[in-house]
Amino acid sequence: APVRREDYAPPAYWIRTAELTFDLDTAKTIVASKLAIERNPALPVQPLRLHGEDLNLLRVLVNGQSVSFRHEDGQLVLEAPEADQFILEIRNTIAPEKNTQLSGLYASGSGLFTQCEAEGFRRITYFVDRPDVMARYTVTLRADRRKYPVLLSNGNLIEQGDLDGGRHFARWEDPFPKPSYLFAVVAADLVAREQWVRTRSGQDHLLQIYVTRGDLDKTEHAMNSLIASIVWDEARFGLPLDLQRFMIVAVPDFNMGAMENKGLNLFNTKYVLASSATAIDSDFDAIESVVAHEYFHNWTGNRITCRDWFQLSLKEGLTVFRDQEFSMDMAGSASARAVRRIADVRTLRERQFPEDAGPMAHPVRPDVYQAIDNFYTPTIYEKGAEVVRMMHTLVGQAGFAAGMRLYFERHDGQAVTCDDFAQALADANPDSPLAQQLDLFKRWYTQAGTPVLEARSTHDPLAQRLTLTLRQRCPATPGQAQKLPQLLPVRMGLLAAEGRALPLQLEGETQARGTERLLIMTQAEQQFTFTDVPAGAVPSLLRGFSAPVVLDDGLDDEALLHLLDWDRDPFNRWEASQRLYTRRIVAGLREGVEASRLSSAHLQALSRLLRDEALDPAFKELVLQVPSEMQLVDQIAQADPQRLHELREGLVDQLAAELCEDWTWVDDTHQVKAGYRPDAAQSGIRALGNLALAMKVRHAVATGDPVWPGKAYQRFKDASNMTLRWGALEALVNAHAELAAPALAHFHEQFRHEPLVLDKWFQLQARAPERQGEVFAKVRQLLKHPDFHLGNPNRVRALVFSLTHFNPAAFHRADAAGYVFWAERVIELDAANPQLASRLARALDRWQNLAEPYRSAAREAIARVATRPELSSDTREIIERALNEG
Ligand code: ARG
Ligand code: ZN
Repeated sequence: APVRREDYAPPAYWIRTAELTFDLDTAKTIVASKLAIERNPALPVQPLRLHGEDLNLLRVLVNGQSVSFRHEDGQLVLEAPEADQFILEIRNTIAPEKNTQLSGLYASGSGLFTQCEAEGFRRITYFVDRPDVMARYTVTLRADRRKYPVLLSNGNLIEQGDLDGGRHFARWEDPFPKPSYLFAVVAADLVAREQWVRTRSGQDHLLQIYVTRGDLDKTEHAMNSLIASIVWDEARFGLPLDLQRFMIVAVPDFNMGAMENKGLNLFNTKYVLASSATAIDSDFDAIESVVAHEYFHNWTGNRITCRDWFQLSLKEGLTVFRDQEFSMDMAGSASARAVRRIADVRTLRERQFPEDAGPMAHPVRPDVYQAIDNFYTPTIYEKGAEVVRMMHTLVGQAGFAAGMRLYFERHDGQAVTCDDFAQALADANPDSPLAQQLDLFKRWYTQAGTPVLEARSTHDPLAQRLTLTLRQRCPATPGQAQKLPQLLPVRMGLLAAEGRALPLQLEGETQARGTERLLIMTQAEQQFTFTDVPAGAVPSLLRGFSAPVVLDDGLDDEALLHLLDWDRDPFNRWEASQRLYTRRIVAGLREGVEASRLSSAHLQALSRLLRDEALDPAFKELVLQVPSEMQLVDQIAQADPQRLHELREGLVDQLAAELCEDWTWVDDTHQVKAGYRPDAAQSGIRALGNLALAMKVRHAVATGDPVWPGKAYQRFKDASNMTLRWGALEALVNAHAELAAPALAHFHEQFRHEPLVLDKWFQLQARAPERQGEVFAKVRQLLKHPDFHLGNPNRVRALVFSLTHFNPAAFHRADAAGYVFWAERVIELDAANPQLASRLARALDRWQNLAEPYRSAAREAIARVATRPELSSDTREIIERALNEG
């Protein structure tokens, strides 16, 4: 049954303390729970309802007496005890090794781990499993000492020792009340990298990163990231580490990226382990940002948590915003910051825009869900972060910090709502446009869909005035036919000839206010007239992507080239190049392949930009990247993935051929001489260098020149770090089949004991550009590879999702074999791991935007999955939404 936001009611009972004892065993774990419960006097007396799922109940006592109970709708129901406060004791068993959903207590590698967000705690024991019920936990863990030498839970270790029969125990106490979703337990054979740090208050804290024995040498970067996160949160927001001990544990089987359990973060190994030999630069970046994200949750999520799951973006949007800001600060220079911003926007466009345009579109604060795990989405996370970023823009950096202070003053220790957060920010900045238009601004929380901002300007040569007309509209989304205007902060500049930045003076103002300003749009249509503007000035709008909208600025190619050449806003420079590429592809679709050729003016601009010594290599690499196939398939109406693939490949070929000498120059000049460091400067050089190599190999294959492919093979073998090895391998796999085969075999042999590198090996083959159907055939074949494991989410994502989510041309086949494959995998996975299966199911979200025959074939595949009666509620929700919107 759907859960609705408007049905929220406070809990009828609070759980104040929880004493849990675990007798841990992979086949059968016994859980004994002793809860101090208090009736909520504000509500009528009613039965106590406890959530529970896949539990084997042994006994229930109230104040030491056995009581009668019943099971109802998957809940354990007890008639209201006489007393308003009582002790509830429950004993139950669970079977971790049978838990293939990876929610609750489960086995991974040779250890036992938990994942409780959102509703996994009820798979451990009966509980009022909702985030507004916060309890103080004491946890006793007992287990075999040899098999599980490390026993961890939240908070502080208060006691440990030996027991009979080769067993031992550890007792943990978490001083902070917390919701059950932040509970965690680990029992495993692990070792830890340790580090003491002192925070500003003079307190010492122990940081630990737990991994399996052989992986200790891959934890340095995660530890550095954690220390940097602690320093940053204290410096930027005055938020210190509040625990004596902070632990991170790496888990090989994990549904998501990581989890912010109080004092005991659990991480997918992918976001902890890295060495220069096994991980590429972007892995290092991802580790830095996920470590920071989970650490920042300690305040935004744990100290202040969510009242209910509709408020999920309260913690996720805010924490993503914080980790993005952290990564930008870590990157250092203004240009490195811009590179991070561009990468973040690219993710938003590739993942969130399609969601907003498809059957799963939902507001940042949703109104209804069937399975909450389906709502850990790019809308909640990335669009949620953009909403926070707009508030930051509207109140300024200092105003934002003041708003955060007020938020913690008011709500520390509470479970609150998105409204509470916005209110605190507004109240701390009463004169800001946010406070003045708070209700209007909050439409960002209630309306789904990506607004389209249309901008047109007219110039009056006599009066030297430029009038900018802005219009906004937002497409209908499921359940929301009509939309109201939203508040859009539009950062802008005006560029005259030679890129001269014009002072911006609005009609009626007595003087200009700088060369960049923020327009605040609040209505469906608004006009802004600027004075003293010469003819030919080009508006640069939505700088830094100041609002998460689709901008239609009506600029012609010449104007976009002007921005590409001159804009001092790196984001808009990059954006101009992206729009020019996309335009060529759209032209190719309409008028044939000739029309997709890049103009010589465009090529010259790119060449100039490549050779511009003042620009950051990382930025150049982004500018030279053509929009991904995923983005094109999503943005272009009635998309034909095969044609888009051909046109896009043609465009890249052209960049390889026409900028041939520039690529050689890049290759000559972009070699890092110093020892490997995963920092922004070095990784930018490697990124551009790898792109140049890929271009050289591509062009060599087209012209029959053997030199560059041979060079790439040599570099692949001799590389001193994985980023360069990977770049060379990718260049071969993408262009040169004959050398790719031995290179892949060599790579597998070399790294067959490194699971995360094997993931890469699978991923690369599944994401390779499709030609004659061989990529698809390869993926089918790799499903039977001895290293492929359906039970390991990383491996499934590396192979299956790489095809369905990241390789449109291999997946969308005219013979529908890709969709048949998808349906088989969804059904197969759903039986074991519904969370993962429902993510896979989303690969066909946008079937309605496909051209025929893909559209009908995709619909048929979805309909076939829908007929399966055994589908989980997770997967059913996705499948039904996909069909109903058709
Ligand atoms: N709160 C975690 C994070 O963003 C995500 C955990 C989500 N897990 C899930 N099964 N839905 O850091
Ligand atoms: Zn999070």
